[in-house]
Amino acid sequence: MLDSAPTVTIRPSTEADVPAMLEIYSYHIQHGLGPFDVEPLHPEELKRRRKAMLKRRLPHLVAEMDGVVAGYAYAAPFRKRPAYRYTVEHSIYVHKDAQGHGIGRRLLPALIEACAAAGARQMVAVVDSANLPSLRLHVACGFVQAGVLHSVGFKFGRWADSVFLQRALGPADTEPPDDHNGGTVQAGD
Ligand SMILES: CC(C)(COP(=O)(O)OP(=O)(O)OC[C@H]1O[C@@H](n2cnc3c(N)ncnc32)[C@H](O)[C@@H]1OP(=O)(O)O)[C@@H](O)C(=O)NCCC(=O)NCCS
Repeated sequence: MLDSAPTVTIRPSTEADVPAMLEIYSYHIQHGLGPFDVEPLHPEELKRRRKAMLKRRLPHLVAEMDGVVAGYAYAAPFRKRPAYRYTVEHSIYVHKDAQGHGIGRRLLPALIEACAAAGARQMVAVVDSANLPSLRLHVACGFVQAGVLHSVGFKFGRWADSVFLQRALGPADTEPPDDHNGGTVQAGD
């Protein structure tokens, strides 16, 4: 897909982006260490997930190159219980042919900014311990390792460790949340 450093545009996703996002995600389900889904997703399920995030006022972004969606990233509630409502967990996927060209380095900072603007105070990434590009990307974007859960996943015939990485957003824990600014993260169901 790429011969040189790309010009990347980041924008909110639309429903019309679903087929492109699905193609990206389906490849990584089959070949990559990123997703913890193991079966291909139905387009309606991806649409539903996207709408659920938007309903909670959480960002869902795509990275576009020359009119082509080359990656996407979104945030979801970290956990369902309300006390976790200022913490988000995110996902980021770049098209297989566009990996390693700096798209993640553009997309993740944009997602971080959007999560902070949405009122989140902490952002959590859960990364397979063998996923070096993702670990490097997250560290480069200010995430620090918070812990490792051993052998909690099983994929491609092996047990997978999950590395938890965490990044503080905005005022983080230096002040209490302001529930009246209209920008707080809404908890899950
Ligand atoms: C992880 C991912 C989002 C990174 O996006 P990307 O556009 O490929 O990454 P970038 O080109 O912006 O590079 C980000 C960092 O990863 C490193 N990197 C990229 N490809 C790499 C590779 N094949 N091996 C090792 N490091 C790699 C880069 O060197 C860079 O680190 P640096 O800034 O310290 O040099 C992308 O590779 C991807 O979609 N992977 C498959 C799905 C996935 O694993 N998603 C994350 C789930 S937690």
